[in-house]
Amino acid sequence: MKKERDSLDQGSTPLFTALMEHARRRPLQFHIPGHKAGTGADPEFREFLGDAAFSIDLINIAPLDDLHHPEGAIRDAQRLAAAAFGADHTFFSVQGTSGAIMTMIMAVCGPGDKILVPRNVHKSVMSAIILSGAHPIFMPPEIDERIGIAHGVSVSTVKTMLNWHPDARAVLVINPTYYGVVADLRAIVALAHDRDIPVLVDEAHGAHIHFHEDLPISAMDAGADMAATSVHKLGGSLTQSSVLNVRQGRVDPRHVQAVLSMLTTTSTSYLLLASLDTARRQLAVRGRELIARALDLAREARDRINQIEGLYCFGEDGLKGSAAVAYDPLKLTVCVKDLGITGYDAEQILRERFGIEVELSDLYNILCIVSPGDGEEEMRALVEALEALAAEFHHQIGQYPVEVKTPVMPLLAMTPREAFYAETDTVSLQDSVGRIFAEMLMVYPPGIPILVPGEIVTEASLEYIREHMNAGLPVQGTDDPEVRRVKVVRRPVEELLRI
Ligand SMILES: Cc1ncc(COP(=O)(O)O)c(C=O)c1O
Repeated sequence: MKKERDSLDQGSTPLFTALMEHARRRPLQFHIPGHKAGTGADPEFREFLGDAAFSIDLINIAPLDDLHHPEGAIRDAQRLAAAAFGADHTFFSVQGTSGAIMTMIMAVCGPGDKILVPRNVHKSVMSAIILSGAHPIFMPPEIDERIGIAHGVSVSTVKTMLNWHPDARAVLVINPTYYGVVADLRAIVALAHDRDIPVLVDEAHGAHIHFHEDLPISAMDAGADMAATSVHKLGGSLTQSSVLNVRQGRVDPRHVQAVLSMLTTTSTSYLLLASLDTARRQLAVRGRELIARALDLAREARDRINQIEGLYCFGEDGLKGSAAVAYDPLKLTVCVKDLGITGYDAEQILRERFGIEVELSDLYNILCIVSPGDGEEEMRALVEALEALAAEFHHQIGQYPVEVKTPVMPLLAMTPREAFYAETDTVSLQDSVGRIFAEMLMVYPPGIPILVPGEIVTEASLEYIREHMNAGLPVQGTDDPEVRRVKVVRRPVEELLRI
């Protein structure tokens, strides 16, 4: 396989090239999309987007291959991607990493199968668990109490859970987390593989990490079996395009293809697919050089931010134990709590007064992402805005000591699927205490559920929810968008737990 990998030309783009050649030939199109290379589209939109984009917004006609059964340009593009990411097989996803995560889980777990997952997983993991009927065994992540963020799971947690659940069908971990922190993935993979259990990795935030030695280890390099990777996040492709990387052995790539196909639209966007093909070329050919420059900018910005009184941006000093062994310097998590404001306040001020949009905010922090798309000017603007923000609230430093609250890990009384499909009552949020939640509730972003179907609602969960709502953070996921009334399982907890 290595020989084949080395013989591939990473400078080529089989799919993008095929699309451009096809567009140049201008065949008479009697197929969808009905905009027919843009001529039938809304003129203003067409002019804005440009004819080039419309000309390759095509579908799976024979010369352009088919994502559901690739045997031409898409197959070649996926092979190049596999070689670039260090995988045995790569599948393109036009449904983001959410689609790739659902595929990973549904390819290995069926109804009742146990899967070990950190409690701070993205909602797509919970969606897959509901759809597959798998039984999640939640692992508590390590929490950084100073800034209120969850890291990965420690090696000892995984070891304990594997001892308690040797019949688990899979272990899923997040590498890196949204905030860029990774656990000791090699050790976790070794533990799971000792028991011949596959390791699935949510690598949504790690599309770039394989391409520079100063970045944390990637899932494929650590020997994981599958990794769902958002190329659109930090790999340079268009939004919604991701890859699913697979290592041959514990999982059958043909089954992965079949499941991916079950979950994927038949009208796959060739714009998204072409953007994956070209992003792979850029990462493989120039990734190291581009990332090196972004790393320099991010390191300098981090140093400058840490010189601003009232702000703190963790680096090496934030790492502790096997759940946080390395971090991605391109993630700038700026803790603003000492200024007596929330991360959400900071996000809004940066938006309204400085024209800066951050990636996300939480109660205590804002998260800013640096990429090869940034330059010195952008970094200067960010640091200067943060200096101005800190100066404005300087008088509040030390005035409002903030007690950092971390999410609670509720008790799971029934599987998420059972709860999701159970008979339910709709009650006020307050009256849900002591009942089994039948919906998913999260702050988005980052999309980590506060409650999942099957969990018993406690006063602590409600307090956590209210605090986020009061701060203006986007709490969502329930049928009622205002989260005033929520669905709980009709059967009482006592009956289910037999207590
Ligand atoms: C940790 C994590 N996993 C998965 C996803 C889903 O990725 P996508 O938006 O590509 O579907 C996200 C999105 O933010 C995420 O933060």
